[in-house]
Amino acid sequence: MKKVSLILLLVATLIGLLQFIGPEVPKYEPVNDLTGIPKEVNAIIRSSCFDCHSTQTELRWYDKLTPANYIVYDHVLKGRAALDFSKWDSLEPAVQNAKLYYSLNKILEEEMPLPSYTAIHSKAKLSGKDITTFKDFLVTRTPRRKIDSLQIQVASQQFSDFVKGKLYTSKQSVQPAPNGIEYIPDYRNWQVISISDRFDNGTVRMIYGNDIAVKAIQNHTTNPWPDGAILAKTAWKQQTNNDGSISAGEFVQVEFMIRDAQKYAHTAGWGWGRWRGIDLKPYGARATFTTECISCHKSLKENDYVFTKPLYLKD
Ligand code: HEC
Ligand code: HEC
Repeated sequence: MKKVSLILLLVATLIGLLQFIGPEVPKYEPVNDLTGIPKEVNAIIRSSCFDCHSTQTELRWYDKLTPANYIVYDHVLKGRAALDFSKWDSLEPAVQNAKLYYSLNKILEEEMPLPSYTAIHSKAKLSGKDITTFKDFLVTRTPRRKIDSLQIQVASQQFSDFVKGKLYTSKQSVQPAPNGIEYIPDYRNWQVISISDRFDNGTVRMIYGNDIAVKAIQNHTTNPWPDGAILAKTAWKQQTNNDGSISAGEFVQVEFMIRDAQKYAHTAGWGWGRWRGIDLKPYGARATFTTECISCHKSLKENDYVFTKPLYLKD
């Protein structure tokens, strides 16, 4: 019995002594409600995200205890570096929309708020209703603008040229990406495997797969995807026509992911390329532009870096 109390005393003393050391407390500064965002959405971000993504970090007593504080403060500093809502007003509206859309993705993937955090701070957990509120608000951030008939005409011409394959049918006329990946004009003859609507930035996207990719989808062998599979994604501006219908407007870009586990081992097993605008200008200044692609796609690492859940095509 004596021994046990001695050990307890020792542990208590040790914890007490530990409190004299510890990491530097992150700077605290209250943050106003985010402008342009309704009260109920502000409340969600405030209670679930602010602790790590703003300077208004409300630490509980147990967050401040050494050694827990080393982990907590590290999350706060890394969180702020990745996304800081204190700087909201200095961001362009398009960047704000992209951050919110990215946030929604992280929430839907159940990566944010960090599960290790909500396990202890249950108030930060998001309910299904919170998520719907967040999403419904995001849709209203980008009202579908009407455009004039001249723009409609230009866009329709572009789209019809695209469908007819009039634009850049030979890869000689398009420069390769900075990592040496060549443009693949043939993707327009591939199968569309999914369509997505990026409501945050007003684009509609079509995702295509080459024969190998389509076979893999049919055989349900897409994790990992087989070598030789290529996915292409085109983005078009959403165009609201005078009758209120939405159609594909101006061409924005085309992107590729080319599967070769060995050849592209250094870039997560995929070759990445993006060509922007109707003149198909290769994206990126250096071969390392791919780190940007991978940093976002890596949230789907468990799904072989692919976001699209393909429509399971029948023969
Ligand atoms: C306990 C701390 C914590 C909480 C709470 C939290 N996050 Fe995070 N978040 C992080 C950390 C740490 C990272 C950086 C991860 C990394 O470096 O890969 C991050 C990264 C992100 C990113 C990626 C930013 C980028 O550009 O890579 C987004 C988006 C994000 N969080 C959104 C949210 C949203 C929205 C909430 C609230 C619903 C939230 N987070 C709550 C800690 C947190
Ligand atoms: C900020 C996050 C983000 C970045 C950065 C990003 N992507 Fe994506 N990518 C997505 C999302 C989300 C999808 C799913 C389709 C959609 O909603 O647009 C996607 C889909 C794709 C697809 C279709 C296959 C799939 O995963 O669904 C290709 C191909 C692609 N991206 C290529 C690229 C390339 C090349 C780069 C870099 C030049 C890049 N992406 C950078 C978010 C990103």
